[in-house]
Amino acid sequence: MTNNQKLNRWVKEWAEWCQADKVYWCDGSEEENQRLLSEMVASGMGVKLDEKKRPGSYYFQSDPSDVARVENRTFICSKTQEEAGPTNNWADPVEMRATMRKLYKGCMKGRTMYVIPFSMGPLGSNIAEIGVEISDSPYVVVNMGIMTRMGKKVLDVLGDGDFVPCIHSVGAPLQPGQKDVKWPCAPIESKYITHFPETKEIWSFGSGYGGNALLGKKCLALRIASVMAKENGWLAEHMLILGITNPKGEKKYIAAAFPSACGKTNLAMLIPSIPGWKVETVGDDIAWMKFGAGGRLYAINPEAGFFGVAPFTSMDTNPNAMLSCRANTIFTNVGLTPDGDVWWEGIGYDMPEGTINWKGKIHDPKSEEPCAHPNSRFTAPACQCPAIDKNWEDPVGVPISAILFGGRRPTTVPLVIEAANWNNGVFMGSIVGSEVTAAAIGLKAGVRRDPFAMLPFCGYNMGDYFAHWISIGKKAGADLPKIFFVNWFRKENGKFLWPGYGENSRVLAYIFDRCNGEGETVDTAIGKVPAPTAINIDGLRDMSVEKMEKVLKVDNNEWKDEVALIDQHYAIFGNHLPVELTEELAGLKKKLGI
Ligand code: OXD
Ligand code: MN
Repeated sequence: MTNNQKLNRWVKEWAEWCQADKVYWCDGSEEENQRLLSEMVASGMGVKLDEKKRPGSYYFQSDPSDVARVENRTFICSKTQEEAGPTNNWADPVEMRATMRKLYKGCMKGRTMYVIPFSMGPLGSNIAEIGVEISDSPYVVVNMGIMTRMGKKVLDVLGDGDFVPCIHSVGAPLQPGQKDVKWPCAPIESKYITHFPETKEIWSFGSGYGGNALLGKKCLALRIASVMAKENGWLAEHMLILGITNPKGEKKYIAAAFPSACGKTNLAMLIPSIPGWKVETVGDDIAWMKFGAGGRLYAINPEAGFFGVAPFTSMDTNPNAMLSCRANTIFTNVGLTPDGDVWWEGIGYDMPEGTINWKGKIHDPKSEEPCAHPNSRFTAPACQCPAIDKNWEDPVGVPISAILFGGRRPTTVPLVIEAANWNNGVFMGSIVGSEVTAAAIGLKAGVRRDPFAMLPFCGYNMGDYFAHWISIGKKAGADLPKIFFVNWFRKENGKFLWPGYGENSRVLAYIFDRCNGEGETVDTAIGKVPAPTAINIDGLRDMSVEKMEKVLKVDNNEWKDEVALIDQHYAIFGNHLPVELTEELAGLKKKLGI
């Protein structure tokens, strides 16, 4: 209980409606965390990993039907469909509340309702927001304990102030005497991940996994926060934040947006391959940016942990991520080795014999199916990252010098392009996309546009979101970051032209220099690209100036095709598309001679 009457009333109302057996207010203490983990081990939901191999770490397997965010069950319930826009699932808020209230009635029978007060952002920061999640999942509590600042200290800061109410149930009530299953959840057709932007509420039902259940992350820190940001003149973005220091000791911060599964965590934790440069991590998934001193944009990472994809994370590809999850980590849907450790495809060594796969069976190494689910995860405290930036919890945030947009583009998009100005950069963000192959279920092969990497995460009309970005550029006295479009994934004959990973530091170094007005550039139809020798390729095997020319090439014919695709992409926004972006596209067409 607290002295916050709104919070007390809300908890009481929902505990009664959901008919929870008990209500428990999480204090966020280590003792509480250990108790819940032990209870989950005792009930068979979790496994404690070997204390020597993975100190303080636990292993979970979800239900096979509950393994990822469910975009087709995610709804933005604004008053009108137009406010949700053409890229979101919309449902009428009155109808949705009625549907979901029916589902919630009695849904916590036989379970404890946990009240989880959490802060997105350093406690007390003027950029932070407080939410309270009620959930019937102890797994959610322990994950929220890593991913957010959670517990009594949040209630102390909240006082009688306002919070974002977040309701979560796995949607699996227990009848008296009924034995629980390992991972309770509801069937797909009754899963709902719902946002009410007008009242800033989140209602989630039926899933216990990741972004569906840890409501501080995608639901609050992106979908609801994007609405708050629009209303109040700031930015809530699907971006990593990193600090980069040059050999002279000068430091800058960069934010970067990439669609899911394009290597944001790898870039955020990159170890530079070029001598004398250093990269430090502020965040790997979400950035909140507000104007601060000198008219600059200051960013915080609203999260306190990493919810990273495990497969293909290794000491080669991302040692800092591997070291972040060396202890005190929750693993979900990876493999469990006979000696009480975890294993996944691409971890960098062979699977030990007798490893149990994410479906709970001894894994046959010859099987076509992976041992770890492709979306298996580690939940690890950010403070365990060896490269964590010393300012990562600074309540003021870190000043952003450059913003990067990127996706997986085997053709057309060069390694790096610099926007001519803010609006041109917004144009680049608005056309972000990734190539999808026909193999991806339910998707047409081709470029899937994912503007600003926010397609699944924008809480309102994406056309209005573009306009909000344009308006940020008009702020009087603003000293705005430079914007760049990057692509690590260009291919020739099916092979990547650029090595990626730690070698991306070479591109970051060029961007750093451009922020100081240094580095040689070449003008093209879409913007400035580096001169073929402007990016340092010393010591890079298989790279030559000729190959750099291919990596950096702007092929006007490819861009003519691209422009036709952008026309189609823009058409869906109708009169919500800001005129500034129509002008940017017209300017590009003119340069291409169309
Ligand atoms: C994530 C995502 O989990 O973007 O971060 O899907
Ligand atoms: Mn993400």
